[in-house]
Amino acid sequence: MTLEAYIECGRLELQSPLFLDGGITFWTLVDSPSTTPLSACETINRKKGWVKVPGRPVEEVPVIGIASVFTPATRRNKGYAAALMQLLSKKVHAMTGGRGFSVLFSNIGPCYYAVNGGWITSGEASQLIIPITKTFMDTVAPELLQLKQAEEYINKDVKTLEKEFAADSNITTVRMIPQYSELLYNGLYFAKLK
Ligand SMILES: CC(C)(COP(=O)(O)OP(=O)(O)OC[C@H]1O[C@@H](n2cnc3c(N)ncnc32)[C@H](O)[C@@H]1OP(=O)(O)O)[C@@H](O)C(=O)NCCC(=O)NCCS
Repeated sequence: MTLEAYIECGRLELQSPLFLDGGITFWTLVDSPSTTPLSACETINRKKGWVKVPGRPVEEVPVIGIASVFTPATRRNKGYAAALMQLLSKKVHAMTGGRGFSVLFSNIGPCYYAVNGGWITSGEASQLIIPITKTFMDTVAPELLQLKQAEEYINKDVKTLEKEFAADSNITTVRMIPQYSELLYNGLYFAKLK
C-alpha cells in the first residue's frame, strides 16, 4: 500500500460513526517538554460488552479496544511501549469508570501486555480454517443483505446472544456485543477502497 493510500484509509476510518466525535483516541508517549513521539497506540472507545458474574444479572459495560501499539524501530527495547501501556491501563480504567473491560488483539503474544499494564489473557485464540472445496449440505441459500437489513439482523442477534449469555455459569464471563456501527465501518472502508 502506498503512503497516500494508507493516509486515505485513515481519513475514511475517521468518517465512520464508530469513530466520529471521540470514538477513537490516538495516544502518543513523549518525554515532556519534548514532543518527539516515543511510542503510540490508539483506543476505540465505543465498544460494548456484557459481564456475567455468577448469581448476578448480566450487566452491559463499556469496552475499550486497544490497537496499533507501535514504537519506531530506532527507539525499541527502551521500555517505551511498556510505559505507554502502563499509563494507558490507568486511563482506560478512568474512561470506563472501572466498570468495563478492554480488549487487545496481540500478535506478540499475551505475556508482554500482562506484565505491562495488567491485561489478563482470556485463553488461546483459535483459528477455524474451512477449505474452499468443502461442500456444506442442508444450508440455506445465501441471500445478499442490504446494510439496513443487516442492522435489523444484528439487533435480533444481540437479543438472542444476551439470552444465551444470561444462563448462569460458575465463573465470571465477558462477551462483546456486536454493533451495527462496526459493520458500517467495515462496509464504508471496503466500499470506498475499491
Ligand atoms: C512490540 C513493540 C510495540 C514493543 O515496543 P518497545 O517500545 O520496544 O517495547 P519495550 O521496550 O517496552 O519492550 C521490549 C520487549 O518487547 C519484546 N518484543 C518486541 N517485539 C516482540 C515480538 N514481536 N514478540 C514478542 N515480544 C516482542 C522484546 O523482546 C522486549 O522484551 P524484554 O523486555 O523481555 O527484553 C515494538 O517492537 C513494535 O512497534 N513492533 C512492531 C509493531 C507491533 O508488533 N506491535 C504490537 C502489536 S500487538
